[in-house]
Amino acid sequence: MKNFKYYAPTYVAFGRDTEKKVGELVRRFGGTKVLLHYGGQSAVKSGLLGKVEQYLQEAGIEYVKLGGVVPNPRVSKVREGIEICKREGIDFLLAVGGGSVIDSCKAISSGRYLDCDVWDLYTRKAVATQYMPIGCVLTIPAAGSEMSDGSVITNEDGGLKKDYCVDEFRCKFAIMNPELTYTLPAWQTACGAVDIMMHTMERYFSKDDDMEITNAVAETVLRTVKEQVRLVLDNPTDYNSRAQIMWAGSLAHNDLTGCGTTGDWATHCLEHELSGMFDVSHGAGLAAMWGSWARYTCSENITRFARFAVNVMGVTNDFKSAEKTAEAGIRAMEQFYHSIGMPTSIKELIGRDITEAEIAEMADKCSNYGKSTVGALKVLTRNDMAEIYRMAKG
Ligand code: NZQ
Ligand code: ZN
Repeated sequence: MKNFKYYAPTYVAFGRDTEKKVGELVRRFGGTKVLLHYGGQSAVKSGLLGKVEQYLQEAGIEYVKLGGVVPNPRVSKVREGIEICKREGIDFLLAVGGGSVIDSCKAISSGRYLDCDVWDLYTRKAVATQYMPIGCVLTIPAAGSEMSDGSVITNEDGGLKKDYCVDEFRCKFAIMNPELTYTLPAWQTACGAVDIMMHTMERYFSKDDDMEITNAVAETVLRTVKEQVRLVLDNPTDYNSRAQIMWAGSLAHNDLTGCGTTGDWATHCLEHELSGMFDVSHGAGLAAMWGSWARYTCSENITRFARFAVNVMGVTNDFKSAEKTAEAGIRAMEQFYHSIGMPTSIKELIGRDITEAEIAEMADKCSNYGKSTVGALKVLTRNDMAEIYRMAKG
């Protein structure tokens, strides 16, 4: 078993009405003046933002609002947030939304005390040494940012999407009321389910075979999300199913499903280029890429893919051929993606054929122009990346 670190310091308030605790929690974690950060319109329309304002006022906490975070959050909005924090003496960041809003808060947190541009962190030209505290009211289970150490930001100048990960990014608190997710459209619910499953699968498809407790937790998370998402798509106000998906989203990305194993993360890296270039939903991009990645790499640990097929996808084991069982599992996953409205190719994702020039550009960016590799199950070079994009073309 590999040595591992497990650090999940986020205070979780889970269940109905927990958003009422927001003022108390901001205060508990040292906030007196908050940047209230949110997205396009869902939190305004549902009335959640107004309620959060009310709870902050009741707790005597000052706040300044900054909305307009878009999916694939932009560095320009982050810069705006940093300026507000400096000008207004903000000491706490509160995200009301999903991964995009939380990630934007994380970037503001790391950029607040820098004496260079925040994008330099994401391009590894600088390192932050001081961070602002962050809390969140989660409205979509998907990215897992409420408990993760990661932040993913897009620079609109060049369509670059990059991550920066540090433990200081872990939220001080996460408020998770499954009822707040009732308003999610089916598409966003499905994208979220794919992302949650992928965070688990990026850790599960590993060469490390000796961590049974981690594998069993991962399989349970995968089966649960696969079953519950269908129930939620049929009945968007099914509290119990929404709740299980929401908690799975946090467990899938707070490292619990990766203890003692080596994460792969190649599908995520390949997808980040897709959403950087075409501004597609992250979950849908993952669904479009995964089958091709899986077919390209499965021979590296065919037993694990066969186990996944049987234990997660419910495929009958072909004891004579692990390869056939593994392939049936990959096919079953693709059928599942289609059944919840997700694409399984780039053509389905962007609505047209991708060009060879676009493939070359994504492979260049993903490999840092041939200077770096991605993946652990199989280490992928620039040419491997281009080949997987071609396989995913559709
Ligand atoms: O902007 P609004 O109007 O709020 O609408 C949002 C947005 O359009 C909507 N939405 C959110 N909650 C809703 C709702 N609509 C109705 N009812 C609600 N309750 O959903 C849309 C998507 O929101 P977004 O925050 O973008 O979704 P998600 O949580 O999937 O975040 C995606 C971002 O997270 C990054 C992705 O790359 C992407 O940029 N990731 C972050 C990670 C991390 N920090 O650890 C890891 C992930 O792998 C991922 O890369
Ligand atoms: Zn993800």
